[in-house]
Amino acid sequence: MTIERRRGEWIVEALAMQLDQPRSGTVTLAQRLYAPLRDWIQRGELTAGEALPSSRRLARALGIGRNTVLAAMDRLVAEGFVEARQGSGLRVAELGPLPVAPPAATAFDAPPLSDRGQRLLDFCAMVSRGHRAFVPGVPALDLLPRERWQRLLRRHRQRSPTDWLDYRSQGGLPALKAALCDYLRLSRSVRCRPEQILITQGAQQGFELIARLLADAGDTAWLEEPGYGGVQACFAMAGLAMQPVPVDAAGLDPERAAGPSPRLIYVTPSHQYPLGVTLSLHRRLALLKAAERHGAWLIEDDYDSEFRYTSAPLASLQGLAEGAPVIYVGTFSKVLYPGLRLGYLVLPEGLVEVFRRANARLHREGQYVVQAALAEFIEAGDFARHVARMRGVYRQRQVWLRQALAPAVVQGLDLSSGHAGMHLVARLDSLDEERRLVEAGDAAGVTLSPLSRYYLGPARQPGLVLGYAGSDEAEIAHAGGWLSRAWLDLQSR
Ligand SMILES: Cc1ncc(COP(=O)(O)O)c(C=O)c1O
Repeated sequence: MTIERRRGEWIVEALAMQLDQPRSGTVTLAQRLYAPLRDWIQRGELTAGEALPSSRRLARALGIGRNTVLAAMDRLVAEGFVEARQGSGLRVAELGPLPVAPPAATAFDAPPLSDRGQRLLDFCAMVSRGHRAFVPGVPALDLLPRERWQRLLRRHRQRSPTDWLDYRSQGGLPALKAALCDYLRLSRSVRCRPEQILITQGAQQGFELIARLLADAGDTAWLEEPGYGGVQACFAMAGLAMQPVPVDAAGLDPERAAGPSPRLIYVTPSHQYPLGVTLSLHRRLALLKAAERHGAWLIEDDYDSEFRYTSAPLASLQGLAEGAPVIYVGTFSKVLYPGLRLGYLVLPEGLVEVFRRANARLHREGQYVVQAALAEFIEAGDFARHVARMRGVYRQRQVWLRQALAPAVVQGLDLSSGHAGMHLVARLDSLDEERRLVEAGDAAGVTLSPLSRYYLGPARQPGLVLGYAGSDEAEIAHAGGWLSRAWLDLQSR
């Protein structure tokens, strides 16, 4: 028997074994012939120039219709795996060197990321572990006026014009921009016209746009140290040189900034994240001057300014000076819920048009039903009522947390003032103490976010960031009691 004949027999037998396998789903008989042949050719088990058995022989040997065999062969020919040669039937085509398949990844292999992707992972350590006590930044999701919200969504869905189904680039629904503009002018002293507002899918998208549109890779950005990981990640991905500027009791101190002139300066003036201090008026004016001197844009992140407990909410930095180079960033993640994915930028006049166009190009627009519902929620006063109610709830939740931690505080645990916001910071003496408490918390079902993670440079102050807004009385008492005991236990060793 010739080699060609023996190889032909091998192909027939191997195909017969394939057809004996149980048939899965909707795969046709022709596909069950085609797939193994292609696989053998790709793996080099059938080599270039090798003859394939004739369709007549295959049909007879496999007990299937000749048309089925022809359908499989036609596809192999059409895709270039097999050639029809005059007078000598079908032969395996010359494919050249095939790319070597990477080894199959196991669940434990790191995925092959770009350098940029790898760097992003450095900023992804703090993953929210659901609704356990002390996850920072989570509002009281159970207290949202859900029925009213659902009614509004339903009504606006039913009424939605066909326009809302289309591609649009208007920077957000005009009704929402108008409602927001009134709210911001009144409650935050922001200077704006509705047209200056760009609706985004949360503050994070706003930071991304700012970093991409206003700075080039290698440009310097000043950031609060310690500061918000979301912005750090965004600036790192834009290739910016991040210059951490220390925060003290009066907020970020521009006098202590080193290095080249910044293009961007990021601040949380109302309630510094995470330390909780307020940027003093003196520092606000100094920052505005520094931004003008350097030709930099000031990014004012006003993420949770609504929740102040000892005085009325402070006026925004943006509203302090007419024509100041300030981009005001707001979000509904804290006042309503993070899954809403709605935030906004208030842009200086000269940036409005470019940001609107760039946002529509990079991210597209949408969610008009939700935007319309939110506009009515604000106009009808529901938003202001919800904020006022949550202010009372969070003040009370902070009191419960302080009570739960009182035994440790009496023994010297240092807690932040808590005049505003949704979390407290417990300062610790060492990184070792921080690590031990975080690990013990993990095992006990309590999320203790280490303050050291919020630093870009070496952590000067170890501590714990304790979000209380999203936990009820029982959870706070339980988790706070546990933390108090764990801290006291560490001190006694
Ligand atoms: C300082 C700060 N800014 C902004 C945000 C809100 O971001 P987003 O609107 O993307 O949810 C957060 C949320 O955790 C935050 O902590």
